[in-house]
Amino acid sequence: MTSHDIELTVNGTAHDLSVEPRTLLVHALRDELGYTGANVGCESSTCGACTVQVDGDAVKSCTMLAVQADGTAVDTVEGLREDGEFHPIQEGFRKEHGLQCGYCTPGMMMTATAFLEENPDPGEAEIREALEGNLCRCTGYQNIVNAVEFAADEMGGGGAGADAGDGVAADGGRATDATGGVVAGDEATTESETTPHDDYESTGGN
Ligand code: FES
Ligand code: FES
Repeated sequence: MTSHDIELTVNGTAHDLSVEPRTLLVHALRDELGYTGANVGCESSTCGACTVQVDGDAVKSCTMLAVQADGTAVDTVEGLREDGEFHPIQEGFRKEHGLQCGYCTPGMMMTATAFLEENPDPGEAEIREALEGNLCRCTGYQNIVNAVEFAADEMGGGGAGADAGDGVAADGGRATDATGGVVAGDEATTESETTPHDDYESTGGN
């Protein structure tokens, strides 16, 4: 199969690599470049475990072909820590016990940090909505919401917006609407908008 040469800047480091047209971004990151922070759960845009940021937007990296990411800046969970210090979202997950097995955690963090860039002072319902595309089988979500609120506070936003404490159910209906919103913001890459199959065809891969 024909390979394509692409360039990805991952966590600030430029990488040149050659990928098949069918290679998903998550596999390029994990298998070609060794960034294993993005986990593979469903490989069908449902779980969010593979979430990274592409040019600042949270994207489920199993929904994007590596060739589509050519020339972009990709941020993964490995890049959150700076100068030996945890990012506030990492500190939040630690302090608020926002994880158990940890499989969902990198994706949760990358969705949350992109969201906090857009909305630095979110209420609880906004946090739950932002994370609705990321599934967690362990925590019951409340401690994850607490972790994001902690990060918002640490980052200067406050984390206690107008709708805080409005009584959204602990699981927020995620079992049914998890595919509806992959990222915070209008640029969301959702299953309905972008699927590996569609993108594969658009690149002319065989
Ligand atoms: S692996 Fe589940 S959304 Fe990508
Ligand atoms: S901590 Fe186990 S899936 Fe979220």
